[in-house]
Amino acid sequence: MAIEQQEPSTVALRNTLRQTFRERRRSLSRSEQKFAAQNLVLQIEQLTCFADAKKVGLYMTNDGELDTKVLIAHLWQKGVQVFLPVLHPFSDGHLLFLEYTQSTPMRANHFGILEPRLDCSKICPITSLDILFTPVVAFDDVGNRLGMGGGFYDRTLVNIINKSVCSTTVIGLAHDIQKTLSLPTQAWDIPLPYILTPTQLYTCT
Ligand SMILES: Nc1ncnc2c1ncn2[C@@H]1O[C@H](COP(=O)(O)OP(=O)(O)OP(=O)(O)O)[C@@H](O)[C@H]1O
Ligand SMILES: [Mg+2]
Repeated sequence: MAIEQQEPSTVALRNTLRQTFRERRRSLSRSEQKFAAQNLVLQIEQLTCFADAKKVGLYMTNDGELDTKVLIAHLWQKGVQVFLPVLHPFSDGHLLFLEYTQSTPMRANHFGILEPRLDCSKICPITSLDILFTPVVAFDDVGNRLGMGGGFYDRTLVNIINKSVCSTTVIGLAHDIQKTLSLPTQAWDIPLPYILTPTQLYTCT
């Protein structure tokens, strides 16, 4: 895919929106976050694609994101394997997904986010994940996604979205307050087919 130059006004607008929505989710109280995390598990249990899921990609919560701790504990308890993103050691801007268990050695990455210590035997190709849950800063009615601005998930999703040979279901996780009517997009943005909040599933396919 050709990467076009960004319009300065679009860049500024996207950065402003990022700030606004990041502040909005950071302002949620501890009890609101706890309630959201518990309800997220109830929502996921209702997804048809979850019934047979054996390998699930998730993320470590950061910056007011929807808390995944309760969900991860729930998945472990059900025997579902959990995989977390790791910054690729030599392919800048790309992610690897490594298995995460209670005994996985962790380290803080360049962004201060905990990730499994690199161990090639623990890597799962993203096409082998049954579900990949992505973090979201903001989303709109048609599944456009604004992330933290590194392009990490755009580069990841380009390999799995709309690929007939790939059965990975991609679902963005967000608080309800992260929804907006319409987001400015760029050529490389990969929209999400589904977004799950603690109260509902948005289908954008
Ligand atoms: N497929 C791609 N190939 C090369 N560069 C890319 C690709 N996708 C995104 N980028 C680059 O990544 C940068 C950030 O992209 P963008 O603003 O869409 O991030 P984001 O979607 O908010 O971040 P993230 O996916 O990490 O949450 C852009 O400058 C863009 O040029
Ligand atoms: Mg993007």
